[in-house]
Amino acid sequence: MVPPTAVATPDAATSPSNAAIGSPDAPAIKDPVKDTILTPRFYTTDFEAMAAMDLSPNAQELEAICEEFRKDYNRHHFVRNEEFEGAADKLDPETRKVFVEFLEQSCTSEFSGFLLYKELSRRIKTKNPLLAECFAHMARDEARHAGFLNKAMSDFGLQLDLGFLTANKAYTYFKPEYIFYATYLSEKIGYWRYIAIFRHLEKNPDSKIFPIFNFVENGCQDENRHGDFFDALMKAQPKSVTGLRARLWCRFFLLAVFATMYVRDVARKEFYEALGLDARDYDKYVIAKTNETSARVFPVVLNVDHPKFYTRLERLVRNNNQLSAADQGSAPAPVKLLRKLPFWAANAAEMAKLFLMSPIRSEQFQPAVR
Ligand SMILES: [Fe+2]
Ligand SMILES: [Fe+2]
Repeated sequence: MVPPTAVATPDAATSPSNAAIGSPDAPAIKDPVKDTILTPRFYTTDFEAMAAMDLSPNAQELEAICEEFRKDYNRHHFVRNEEFEGAADKLDPETRKVFVEFLEQSCTSEFSGFLLYKELSRRIKTKNPLLAECFAHMARDEARHAGFLNKAMSDFGLQLDLGFLTANKAYTYFKPEYIFYATYLSEKIGYWRYIAIFRHLEKNPDSKIFPIFNFVENGCQDENRHGDFFDALMKAQPKSVTGLRARLWCRFFLLAVFATMYVRDVARKEFYEALGLDARDYDKYVIAKTNETSARVFPVVLNVDHPKFYTRLERLVRNNNQLSAADQGSAPAPVKLLRKLPFWAANAAEMAKLFLMSPIRSEQFQPAVR
């Protein structure tokens, strides 16, 4: 972990808008949700190593991706229209609560991406201009996404204090290749999550509980392009996706991302119900698609069709329910801790078993693209 000072204050020009804060009619500032392993994280990395990165093994593809970023397809996309007026008042209190949580989590993740990309572009600007430019374009997109989500929160009389978050969140240090795995997966899983919701709502327009969902189709194409950028970057650093070490780390990151999402989404299944979706079915679809996509660059992917895979994820869900139950009530902290220990241990054991399940070599899984 490094102190938050390692991350500079974002440029005002590209920062997600917090302009309403401080004005007499400003919405209430929302306290960030309590940090758990399931809440979005903020990352920092080794900027020197990033700056020194040799892109020549895949420079052409990276240049082509940068050219796509320059086109800025969504420059005029995120503009609110009259549909937003009064839309928040139409939600019943329960749906409102879960929807605000969704907005908050999504806004925090977008903002976390913005901070990381912005800082990367700033720190490597002189030494690695192509990479720096790509990160700057991605920071632009994430700022837009975060700003748009934050504006939707203000429809509910709330707003995230992004400045406060920047200064007070703990930053997790990841060396560059772990940043590649984690951000690649979060971009691709973000794409599949948003596109799955979009396609479902296209077929079931009555479940469109808020006009923000009209914007996800174009928005998720940004995430898809960001994912493709990390795919190309990993191919420029072949060591990151070849050999035993890479195979182990790719398995680890796939599992961490899938398990976290599954446990979190099942815990807030009411949000998916409000959209007419079953959280488990939705997650299974997103996991299958992300796993399949990852085989284009990761040397191995997970065998998510193995009958034990979801049995074990369900055990994590149950342990997590027990952990939350142990947290309730008025027992003193040490007693709560003792009650939680067995469930933590059980979770660790399940994760270990999941990790040790045989993965699938990507060339077997997607021979055509590799
Ligand atoms: Fe985004
Ligand atoms: Fe993104």
